[in-house]
Amino acid sequence: MTTKREHFGSRAAVIMAMAGSAIGLGNIWRFPYMVGEYGGAAFILVFILCSFVLSFPIFLSEAVIGRRTHANAIGAMNKLAPGSFWTSLGYLSVITPMVIVSYYSIVGGWSIEYFFKSFSLNFGEFRPTGWVPLLFNTIFLACSAGIVAFGVKDGIEKFNKISIPILFVLIVLIMLYSVNMPGAQKGIEYLVKPDFSKLTGRTFAFALGQSFYSMSLGMGIVITYSSYVHKDENLVASGVGTVLAALLFSVLAGFAIMPAVFSAGIAPSSGPGLVYQTLPHVFLGMGETSPLIATIVAALFFFSVVVAAMTSSISLIEVGVAYLVEEKNIKRGLACLLVFVVAWLLGLASVFSINVFGKVDAFSSNFLLTFGVLLVVLFVGWKMDKKEVREELTNGGTVNTKIFGAFFFLVRYVAPITVLTIFVTNLVL
Ligand code: PHE
Repeated sequence: MTTKREHFGSRAAVIMAMAGSAIGLGNIWRFPYMVGEYGGAAFILVFILCSFVLSFPIFLSEAVIGRRTHANAIGAMNKLAPGSFWTSLGYLSVITPMVIVSYYSIVGGWSIEYFFKSFSLNFGEFRPTGWVPLLFNTIFLACSAGIVAFGVKDGIEKFNKISIPILFVLIVLIMLYSVNMPGAQKGIEYLVKPDFSKLTGRTFAFALGQSFYSMSLGMGIVITYSSYVHKDENLVASGVGTVLAALLFSVLAGFAIMPAVFSAGIAPSSGPGLVYQTLPHVFLGMGETSPLIATIVAALFFFSVVVAAMTSSISLIEVGVAYLVEEKNIKRGLACLLVFVVAWLLGLASVFSINVFGKVDAFSSNFLLTFGVLLVVLFVGWKMDKKEVREELTNGGTVNTKIFGAFFFLVRYVAPITVLTIFVTNLVL
């Protein structure tokens, strides 16, 4: 079909959109804890290594698929490998984000609720399931789908271009406050003290899994967003910008959260517990001496979480919307409504059972995502015409020609072996 496709307006817009997808709950509630528990500065080094040696080439592989075809994930695979097994990569890439957004938006909903609670500093007990979470989930999902309905340029690009800079300013402000709290030193040590004895094979697998999740790999997002990137844009440059932004945000979030947690004398935790149980205690503690400051910090913090989650959820929604618009000839507004309804219905299972919530999270982030990544690297490394891959990554031989060899080697050999190992480990463990 011949719909006119939109494009991101500039490199900055591409990076903001990609970084918006990358920066999210993963950076806020998993990364800081993992760093502390798995070797501090030593873990950060491993994480950076994983990000550049594996996640980055995988990111570029998806970018090649997306920009080469200028099509949604399913359309892209239909163009590159029509009628073959590889089209299943397209379908998987559309299904996975639907599953993820169904529970991701629930967390977005909790964050909206906690944002409002910040003003009274009355958080009460954490109730992750039930009618109230359903209400806030509905609000969060509707806002995200609403933004996507405005389109690639007027919706996604605009929202990310405003949100991402704000997010960085807020997290830096919160960090400055946090590292100056009494007793913050212990939290800083928790994050930086290198402990190389903690670096085992498992740690490595965790670091890599976290890096994939954080970079939003293996679920059609980079394929879809890259399909809106201009032909003459340098994919490597936008990729580096995205990796750096996501890494920086993770580290800033760590220094915003952990010093405050230690200052309050609380044991750090991971996952929902960190943000919705541990941190409210921190804010309550602060509120005993200075309620106004505690309210401001808490409100800014939960506002940041809402925004970070929303820039990610719109990327998840866009994958399905792009598919419906291009392959099924459905108007963008209606496509957003459809994705909203499906995600909302799928989410009902998680919003009423924290057990299901945990299972859906684990299944999609360990299994579906890793499988998606595996298919991507096998496809680009072994099946796609190498000349085409080179042409796309080097813009017809004008840029990045020197690094192409290294990129291709990583995608063809190193990535599949590593990802397969992790995939099997996840299955067995
Ligand atoms: N990258 C996001 C994060 O770190 C999560 C995410 C996963 C977003 C998958 C989109 C897709 O929170």
